Formats: sequence, structure tokens, C-alpha cells
Amino acid sequence: MAAILLALLLSVISTAVAQSRSSNISVGASLTPTGDPVWLSHSGMFAFGFYQQSKGYAIGIFLAGIPHKNVVWTANRDDPPVPSTASLLLTTDRKLVLRSTPEDEVSIVDSTKTIANATMLDSGNFVLYNSTQGKIWESFQHPTTTILPGQQLSAGK
Ligand SMILES: *[C@@H]1O[C@H](CO)[C@@H](O)[C@H](O)[C@H]1NC(C)=O
Ligand SMILES: *[C@@H]1O[C@H](CO)[C@@H](O)[C@H](O)[C@H]1NC(C)=O
Ligand SMILES: *[C@@H]1O[C@H](CO)[C@@H](O)[C@H](O)[C@H]1NC(C)=O
Repeated sequence: MAAILLALLLSVISTAVAQSRSSNISVGASLTPTGDPVWLSHSGMFAFGFYQQSKGYAIGIFLAGIPHKNVVWTANRDDPPVPSTASLLLTTDRKLVLRSTPEDEVSIVDSTKTIANATMLDSGNFVLYNSTQGKIWESFQHPTTTILPGQQLSAGK
């Protein structure tokens, strides 16, 4: 019985992954912990954005729609949680930044390249593109704790 349920669950997940349609995140988009906290993948399975951590919030990728957030990737994991007044912005100067206070801004991705737009894929990969739609950064290339199906762990990571 358990095996059947598991097989069923896996087939539902792989169907969702196979669709892999994208959400479109453009320059000027922003998130806040208490307003619009996440960008969802097309199927709604994965979310990129704020989740509660101790007394504040952190930025990560997690399975959406389930009560206990299953975090698969975390940004700046050694930094302390940020307050509910923080925001995450894809700025007009084309950087992805976490603003804890107006004076305190940190970049979420370690890239000097200019971001044109971004997407949260149903595979659980968060991808940043340049103006010619070349991938300039993807969370799958920056594993933190959990490896997802389809994600390859490169040497040295
Ligand atoms: C990013 O923007 C370009 C140009 O507007 C568009 O063609 C492309 O589909 C967008 N990318 C994503 C992932 O939505
Ligand atoms: C993504 O958003 C940009 C800017 O709003 C738009 O030009 C483009 O057509 C969108 N792409 C898709 C696939 O929706
Ligand atoms: C976008 O990224 C691709 C792949 O990394 C690269 O080949 C291309 O030159 C970049 N385009 C721009 C405008 O920087």
C-alpha cells in the first residue's frame, strides 16, 4: 500500500516536473515577508522567497503548499534572519538584492553579470537570465543542503 502511494506521488511529481513551464519575474519585481512573500513555479510546487526562521525571515527555495516548509536551498545561509520589514528586489540596475533596512543591502547571488529576468522552475531550480536569455545563475549550480532529481552535483561543490 505504501509502495503504491509512493509510486503515485512520484508520478504526480514527475508530471509536474515534465511540464516545467516557467514563472516570469521581471526587473522591478519585489517580495516582502508579510506582503507578497514568494515567487511560485508555474505548477505552484516550488516557491522562491521569504520563509520564517527563528524570530525573523530567510530567503530560500522550498516546497510550497505544505504546512511544514521543506527548504531545499537557502541564500546567504550564514547570515542572521532579517526582520519583517525586509524586502527582496530585482532592482532596475538589474541586481537581486535583499534589503534588511534602507542602508543595509546584500546581493543574493554571487554574479557580476546583469540580470534581465528570472524564473522559478517546477524542477525546483531558480534561474537568472541575461538580456539574450542566457542563464547567468541557477540555484542548481549552488547546492546548499538538499539535492533534487535532475540536479547534478559538480566537483568541488
Ligand atoms: C524574459 O524576458 C524576455 C523578453 O521580454 C522574454 O522573452 C522571456 O520569455 C522572459 N523569460 C522568462 C523566463 O520569462
Ligand atoms: C516576461 O516579462 C517581460 C516583461 O514584462 C515580457 O516582455 C515578456 O514577454 C514576458 N515573457 C513571458 C514568457 O511571459
Ligand atoms: C548571455 O549569456 C550567454 C550565456 O552565458 C552568453 O553567451 C551571452 O553572450 C550573454 N549575453 C549578453 C548580452 O551578455
